[in-house]
Amino acid sequence: MGKKQVAILTGAGISAESGLRTFRDSDGLWENHRIEDVATPGAWKKNPQLVLDFYNIRRKNVADAKPNAAHLGLADLEKDFDVCIITQNIDDLHERAGSTNIIHLHGEIFKMCSEKNRNIISEIRGDIKLGDLAADGAQYRPFIVWFEEPVPRIEEAIPVIQNADIFIVAGTSLLVYPAAGLVNYAGRYIPKFIVDKKIPYTNQIPNLTMIEKPASEGVQELKRILLKSI
Ligand code: APR
Repeated sequence: MGKKQVAILTGAGISAESGLRTFRDSDGLWENHRIEDVATPGAWKKNPQLVLDFYNIRRKNVADAKPNAAHLGLADLEKDFDVCIITQNIDDLHERAGSTNIIHLHGEIFKMCSEKNRNIISEIRGDIKLGDLAADGAQYRPFIVWFEEPVPRIEEAIPVIQNADIFIVAGTSLLVYPAAGLVNYAGRYIPKFIVDKKIPYTNQIPNLTMIEKPASEGVQELKRILLKSI
């Protein structure tokens, strides 16, 4: 028999113990920045330098951060399960922890794209500056899905969750759609888990185990439960 398929939806909470701020906890990023100033197409139109500054700092922070026990624990699951990580995070900590199958719903901080064509993508380790132009002559922008923009990779994430034997949600407030709506695609009877230091509100989810702990500890507990089940 093949390995069981595990779909894992992650958010900023999984990277919190790596020193990256979440968005909506106290002292989260949205407490100090207005979304409409830095994370919408309107913000980019109005003040691209401010938007670049915001993401240039994020990129530096991610470069300085390291995967924590939660990322490593989820990567380790690949030994026993067929794992797909669906992340809202723009950092690369799942990759650096060793996970090999990752869908970045909201973009990636180490990429930039043409402001006119999201398919013209380039790697970026340092800062993006005004005047950095893509092959089509248009300004490069961060390869990030902003509020009010479509989330193209949601289409890939839906069947992964529909086909999963086990579904896990870790470190997300489940407040941002369409990502939050993915929980509704999990099979009714499959085992489901939420790992979060403060379990987010959801509708009734059948067969749900809640692990209310910081991600590093919570993922270890989750692993113990999952390994007993194979
Ligand atoms: N361990 C586990 N969970 C944690 C930890 C931790 N150490 N620290 C915080 N959390 C949890 C919080 O309790 C909360 O449920 O992580 C979640 C963080 O929620 P948000 O800040 O809303 O982050 P997220 O859900 O990833 O945000 C979704 O919103 O602004 C956008 O595009 C951005 O991808 C992001 C999306």
